[in-house]
Amino acid sequence: MLQPADVAHLMSGRKVARIVLQPEDIAQRVKDLGVEIAEHYGDGELLVLGLLKGSFIFLGDLVRAVERPLQVDFLVASSYGSEKVSSGNVRLVYDPETRLEGKHILLVEDIIDSGRTINRLLELLSARKPRSLEICALLDKHLADNVLTKRPKFLGFDAPNEFLVGYGLDHAEDFRHLPFVASLAE
Ligand code: IMP
Ligand code: MG
Repeated sequence: MLQPADVAHLMSGRKVARIVLQPEDIAQRVKDLGVEIAEHYGDGELLVLGLLKGSFIFLGDLVRAVERPLQVDFLVASSYGSEKVSSGNVRLVYDPETRLEGKHILLVEDIIDSGRTINRLLELLSARKPRSLEICALLDKHLADNVLTKRPKFLGFDAPNEFLVGYGLDHAEDFRHLPFVASLAE
């Protein structure tokens, strides 16, 4: 088990309060999610849409665990700057080139916090008449349970209400490459 002291050299001087998810926990859960996803979808085309940048590592591991035909594309929505709180403005700065109509769309997100990003994307994507539209999130802080227009059908882990980094999640673009998820000390 990794301890904060073991990873201090990766943290640019920032302190890790605790390691929330060990690499092994993530790997096991991602495998199980892949099985859940493959079992959920019957016939039809599946397009997995990763929300960049936060989902890139999760998405890469996840799609390799889904034993079914699928395609992958990305969305870039911009809502956070270097701030730790959501600005509430969600802007699409890259839009998938693939047609969504008639396809099963699985939107993959790193973490659900205020729910603003997901709600806005659900609105944008459902307007394109997909055959189905579901969410797969690695983490959910459950702060948005009553706000979300659709809860994630596939969820990796419940998240504590702390600022988390690693496995795709950043703070001001740092720490995305960490193979674990950690809570940053203030
Ligand atoms: P929401 O719109 O408030 O739900 O924010 C979702 C986005 O904010 C996620 O896709 C992340 O990029 C970012 N975010 C929210 N909470 C955290 C966190 O604890 N660490 C890093 N990024 C976060
Ligand atoms: Mg971010």
